[in-house]
Amino acid sequence: MPNIKLAVVAGDGIGTEVVDQGLAVLESVLAGSGTQVTPTAFELGAKRWHATGETLTDDDLEAIRAHDAILLGAIGDPTVPSGVLERGLLLKLRFSLDHYVNLRPGKLYPGVKSPLAEPGEVDFVVVREGTEGPYGGVGGSVRTGTPQEIATEVSVNTAFGVERVVRDAFARAQARPRKHLTLVHKHNVLVNAGHLWRRTVEAVNAEFPDVTTDYLHVDAATIFLTTNPSRFDVIVTDNLFGDIITDQAAAICGGIGLAASGNINPDRTAPSMFEPVHGSAPDIAGQGKADPTATVMSVAMLLAHLGLTEESARVEAAVAADLAERGAEYGRRPRWAATSHSACGAEPPPTTAVAAGSVR
Ligand code: IPM
Ligand code: MN
Repeated sequence: MPNIKLAVVAGDGIGTEVVDQGLAVLESVLAGSGTQVTPTAFELGAKRWHATGETLTDDDLEAIRAHDAILLGAIGDPTVPSGVLERGLLLKLRFSLDHYVNLRPGKLYPGVKSPLAEPGEVDFVVVREGTEGPYGGVGGSVRTGTPQEIATEVSVNTAFGVERVVRDAFARAQARPRKHLTLVHKHNVLVNAGHLWRRTVEAVNAEFPDVTTDYLHVDAATIFLTTNPSRFDVIVTDNLFGDIITDQAAAICGGIGLAASGNINPDRTAPSMFEPVHGSAPDIAGQGKADPTATVMSVAMLLAHLGLTEESARVEAAVAADLAERGAEYGRRPRWAATSHSACGAEPPPTTAVAAGSVR
């Protein structure tokens, strides 16, 4: 690929700062490689919404579609009612571009201090379903604001949607040394969706006979993530469970400021989107305190997705070297707490992380 057309959605709060660093790393690692990157900035987020009432128009979406990949910073702002930007922008991007694999590595890098006393070797990846579950927007509220109110969010699980994400997770497990897949759900209570997921894992396993599988209810999974995270290799789970356990995964791997993700369209019918797992952290925005590491690692995932594996490995190596040097700071710092909306939270000041120049 001689030229990467990159859609850049910096978004809100610290989004701009971390995306600037990610772009600098991208340009640095591609320098002299024969591959160029052409970034196009899309002004989306709180500012645009205040000015126009728009979150993501059809025209925006069509323009974004014409790119090879998307780099996103963070979405969400305390001045915008909760849900407006999350649903109208971030989730709309994931759904419209069919990002059915939300890939979230949980890796504890050497030198990074986990809050767990003896974490062991932690290196797993969560394949979180990205287009269904309770995120689909099915439901509503009747008699709102009265004592008789009934509010529902229906978890939608289609055989098609579950099968394609499960197949992707099996393929990822097969490509890893341990070849193990854990299904996380709650089939003792969510008997309809849970059994669909279980049957699907069983059926697709026939195509990947060398992959071993096991099952954990989501509540038990949170225990093992804390007591024995090294038991996990690939985890496949639905959209909401995946949201929750990947924040836990981030915490055990040194903090949300390090957690990278890819919203992948494996069929490549639309560009995939790479973003740090953290939110817009309005409390520390504009102060140069946000750690761009999660964005830089998301850039590494972007490069790998585009087939630039060597460049991806160089970015990861640079981050690993940086973390080896200053990673121990993480466990000692008080966690920055989300104050104004969910999904905020970068670690406080760990300087500049991987300066673009350190990627060789
Ligand atoms: C995440 C975030 C989002 C999610 C929110 C902001 C919609 O928490 O990327 O994990 O729930 O997926
Ligand atoms: Mn989340």
